[in-house]
Amino acid sequence: MRLLITVARRIHKRPLCSPTSYLSSAASCSGAATNSGLQFRDDQLVSGLTGELVQRLRGQVEVRTEFISEEEEGALMKELEPGLRKKRYEFDHWDDAIHGYRETERAQWGAVCEGVMDRLRAVAFSEGSPLLGPVHVLDLDKAGYIKPHIDSVKFCGSTIAGLSLLSDSVMRLVREDEPAEWLNLFLPRRSLYILRDQARYKFTHEILKDAESIFSGQRVPRHRRISVICRNLPV
Ligand code: OGA
Ligand code: MN
Repeated sequence: MRLLITVARRIHKRPLCSPTSYLSSAASCSGAATNSGLQFRDDQLVSGLTGELVQRLRGQVEVRTEFISEEEEGALMKELEPGLRKKRYEFDHWDDAIHGYRETERAQWGAVCEGVMDRLRAVAFSEGSPLLGPVHVLDLDKAGYIKPHIDSVKFCGSTIAGLSLLSDSVMRLVREDEPAEWLNLFLPRRSLYILRDQARYKFTHEILKDAESIFSGQRVPRHRRISVICRNLPV
């Protein structure tokens, strides 16, 4: 059975551009360790067409490295893996926003994971903001990727917050009515990203496939990646 969230994504078809045309200054220095071995400072996790665009979306696009510990990642995997393993990765729905994935939802967590969810909710949502009931869990195969889309405005509110487990990845945002305006986000394993307001409504988001997974001129190998995503409800 398809989950509500699957039908709730709107796919955006647009011409593919070579990722190399997106390069801004290469950056590799001290900062959070990642499973690709790449290291970026926190202020280098978002790159874009211009520094002005990055500034304009400050506060609406956030990446927090090391949001969860290795132990917490292990606890999440322990809870999620048995259910996910019963499902098959889906590759053949050409019109889906996502290629090579399986997904589930989760409402109840053990103590360690519930602690993570509490922390996530506290940083991403304002108090009392009603959330979409269950948390969405998306398991992308190594060959999987997420095409440009905007989450349904009918079912989801102004904020999308996601944890990345198992693999680093690159998320790209492209302004819907101005495709030249783009941002790339480096999402290290165990980081949290938050998209809000304009970044959520006016920009498509996507997770790049392994072959195109490049950030600031550096290859970001994409392995199997699991995201744990919280959304609020529309007002
Ligand atoms: C989605 C989505 C992003 C992610 O499921 O709509 O955009 O981090 N997921 O998996
Ligand atoms: Mn989405």
